[in-house]
Amino acid sequence: MNFQETCMLILLIASNFVSLQSLNTKQFPANFMFGAATAAHQIEGGWKEDGKGENIWDRIAHSTNAIHNHENADIACDSYHKYKDDVAMLKYLSVDHYRFSIAWSRILPTGFSNHVNEAGVNYYKKLIKALQSNGIKPMVTIFHWDTPQTFENIGGWTNEMIIDRYVDYSRVLFETFGGDVKYWLTFNEPKQICQEGYGAGIKAPGIMSHGFGEYLCAHNVIKAHAKVWHMYNKEFRNKQQGQVGITIDSMWMEPETNSEVDILAAERKMQFTFGWYANPIINGDYPAVMKEFIGRRSILQGYNKSRLPAFTTDEIRYIKGTIDYLGINQYTAMLVRHINDTDKTEISWEADSETFEYQPDYWEATVSDWLKVTPWGMRKQLNWIRATYGDIPQIITENGYPDNGTVSLDERRINYLKQYLSGIRDALDDGVKIIGYTVWSLMDNYEWYRGYSERFGLYRVDFTNPERTRTPKLSAEYFKNVSSTKCIVYVSECIDEVVK
Ligand code: NOJ
Repeated sequence: MNFQETCMLILLIASNFVSLQSLNTKQFPANFMFGAATAAHQIEGGWKEDGKGENIWDRIAHSTNAIHNHENADIACDSYHKYKDDVAMLKYLSVDHYRFSIAWSRILPTGFSNHVNEAGVNYYKKLIKALQSNGIKPMVTIFHWDTPQTFENIGGWTNEMIIDRYVDYSRVLFETFGGDVKYWLTFNEPKQICQEGYGAGIKAPGIMSHGFGEYLCAHNVIKAHAKVWHMYNKEFRNKQQGQVGITIDSMWMEPETNSEVDILAAERKMQFTFGWYANPIINGDYPAVMKEFIGRRSILQGYNKSRLPAFTTDEIRYIKGTIDYLGINQYTAMLVRHINDTDKTEISWEADSETFEYQPDYWEATVSDWLKVTPWGMRKQLNWIRATYGDIPQIITENGYPDNGTVSLDERRINYLKQYLSGIRDALDDGVKIIGYTVWSLMDNYEWYRGYSERFGLYRVDFTNPERTRTPKLSAEYFKNVSSTKCIVYVSECIDEVVK
């Protein structure tokens, strides 16, 4: 950090002194892991290099107008070539772990396991080795949205054939990298894969099948998750001693009023978002409230059974408890209002919950229209997860703040991180078992259909420069301080207290 940046940082911290009083400034436990996250498609580039196959995001960017400014991830941050720079940045940030994803079609170009792409394997081997020689633990997401196009041609996640293909792919990963990777995440944000990908059609593959597609997709994703967990448990756990979890996202759902109907509506929306995936995986089946609401509406709409597929008794037994730790992506909150939907004619996941959600204008906005700054939601959500599912180890696998390419919003990012981390520290005080925090993102990257217009990085990436130069933002300095001291403020202001 140069002199000017140091002065700015000091000013920044001084200007926050008042809010500092309201922060939980206790030190995090020594074994609490701090890390940074990325995903393959968002950073790697090399979209068809060395034999990589096409995925659904390559296809949508190259053949439609769906993406902001027609931007694609052909080069992105060029991490396929610059992974050593990425590791050097992680090292500089003093992180304990790096969460990244493996691109299915880089390892298996057509998605099928009959042909393993050695160049792809070598790329991840080199990355993992570089992490290990710098003392950084790899945390690997097996699937972060980049379905091989071959499978999408025949229905993608709505075709149950994909379950065994995903298991084959995961087996290749466990066999190839499992000696070195102790933290696996089967899926990233299944709700976005299914609801936005196959219900609302606003993410790749852009299928609009409201009220059907998303439920079919989720059914297959949940079964695929369970099958991979069982495979690891049976064939790899003894040898490799790792853990298999899943990353589930949801916004915190806050009742708009204290009325009983709004309180129930907010709880229902938590079940329709987080519980949709967490409940089967932890307790074996879909949340009772989803079964009730979707079932009732389906019959009233003239179907002879629920649009929500049902698990058999054997499947429930098989899926239940297939989790070693729970990854949580938490960025923001919503206010929820009960809807008195008397005719119940609309067929969609949104309508099925009979709720209405919004973010009031007076909440602090960001450049992402879905993300307002609501740090209080973090503590509430972590406590809700514990109250709903018990003492399962939780790790924040994503949380972060966007800018639009200027550095001027970075002090807001620092404030955001500080307040959310304070909420997590509160949740630790509440007795929630949280083992780590992962900031999204290590560097600016390809924000899916928003292209490069929304940037969450601690490092700025110059996408106009062929070198994709990376420059630390002030928030990188802030986060380095957090991860190296386990304090969200300067060590001198940090209270050294052991967590119960
Ligand atoms: C969730 C996704 O996992 C990640 O890919 C995305 O970039 C961030 N949130 C920010 O929107």
